[in-house]
Amino acid sequence: MNGINGIEVRNGGLYFDGNDLVGLAKYYGTPLYVMSETIIRDRCRMIKSEFTDKYPDVAAVFASKAFQTLDMCRIVQSEGLGMDVVSGGELYCALKAGFPPERLVFHGNSKTVAEMESAVESGVGRIVADSLYEIHALERIAAARNETVRVLYRVTPGVDSHTHRFISTGGLDSKFGIPLDRSVRDLYMRAVLDSPHLGFMGFHFHVGSQISKNISHLAALGIVLDLIADTKRDYGVETRELNLGGGFAVRYLPDDPDPGVTHFVAPMMEKIKRFCADTGMAMPRVTIEPGRWIVGEAGLTLYTIGSIKEIPGIRTYVGVDGGMPDNIRPALYDAKYFAAIANKAGLPPADIVTIAGKCCESGDILIRDIALPKPESGDILSVFSTGAYNHSMASNYNRLPRPAVVMVREGTHRLSVRRESYEDLLSREL
Ligand code: LLP
Repeated sequence: MNGINGIEVRNGGLYFDGNDLVGLAKYYGTPLYVMSETIIRDRCRMIKSEFTDKYPDVAAVFASKAFQTLDMCRIVQSEGLGMDVVSGGELYCALKAGFPPERLVFHGNSKTVAEMESAVESGVGRIVADSLYEIHALERIAAARNETVRVLYRVTPGVDSHTHRFISTGGLDSKFGIPLDRSVRDLYMRAVLDSPHLGFMGFHFHVGSQISKNISHLAALGIVLDLIADTKRDYGVETRELNLGGGFAVRYLPDDPDPGVTHFVAPMMEKIKRFCADTGMAMPRVTIEPGRWIVGEAGLTLYTIGSIKEIPGIRTYVGVDGGMPDNIRPALYDAKYFAAIANKAGLPPADIVTIAGKCCESGDILIRDIALPKPESGDILSVFSTGAYNHSMASNYNRLPRPAVVMVREGTHRLSVRRESYEDLLSREL
């Protein structure tokens, strides 16, 4: 099918990374997350060819909040990227998978002391501090261990990122990052520079997610470069590292823009180089942190169609066996998705229908108004581009067991995460 990564039509059936989707649905049951290892690896390699191999002294880390499993951690590790973790749980998973701690970056706007202790204890490469509270806690933790902890500051550049307001993070009124207001900034800078056990490495910013134009990244970078110059002037401190965050958009609908990584990184690298040449400062080590861009288009979700409810003159609701617990994004962000009936891939569209999830919420609509071949109960629906922030944001609302995750690669498939059982649902109850 045009525009959908990794999808082919063979004999009227949909194939993803060489695997028959109807066959996968039969074998593993539905709802089912299907992830293409080929696409994930291709994306990692594109990041290498367009960024890490192209510029000296740069790094890329995968923002694992987008999709984290043990299997995924091993794939990312084998592709040579680092990983961003934002909680004790993500850190635990990365370490369990054998991910080298020095390639981990620990994020979060409200890290607990216990999380910071385990980050320091396990030797994560960088901790990105988000508040004075964290700086003080990290100093205590590092002092108690007589170690030096390398930190970056996350800053709030005050840039509007033209994405859904829930996933825009760089504006002035944001819970993320330290404000750049001069009076506050001094407090923060003094705190980190006066801490004998903290090594100040530089700054981090992240303007938001699913951003298709580089304008806000470049605007934020300009502000942070000014901060770097001020830091040198006011404190005599060189910024050795600069983390540009992630946020690069992927395609959800076939006609969505596909900006790619170079669209963001090339002008940013150029701007940093120019700044360094103009100011005589040394190039900092630059890191990027894409999450969605690596996994978003690498995943799809299979559902079985159940009830079909036609309300004459109004709409037809096509009910599926999953919904907001496996994909909260339409309800939370009004996110749009594209889908096809896997067993009717060769047929032309016949009806405009609405795909309804099975939760007791009117808002549990996966796709409003999509043209599909005539749907029938028992058909297998494939919703595309669900690889990012679906599995990782899944819940058990209405006591729905979370779907299995299957990793596919060139006609082979393996179970990565088994489906939750009803026993799992009660496993923590006393
Ligand atoms: N770095 C930091 C510090 C972040 O906060 C994020 C995402 C990323 C990197 C990766 O951003 P990405 O490349 O994936 O856009 N749940 C929302 C997205 C939240 C993103 C949060 N931070 C969604 O489903 O759209």
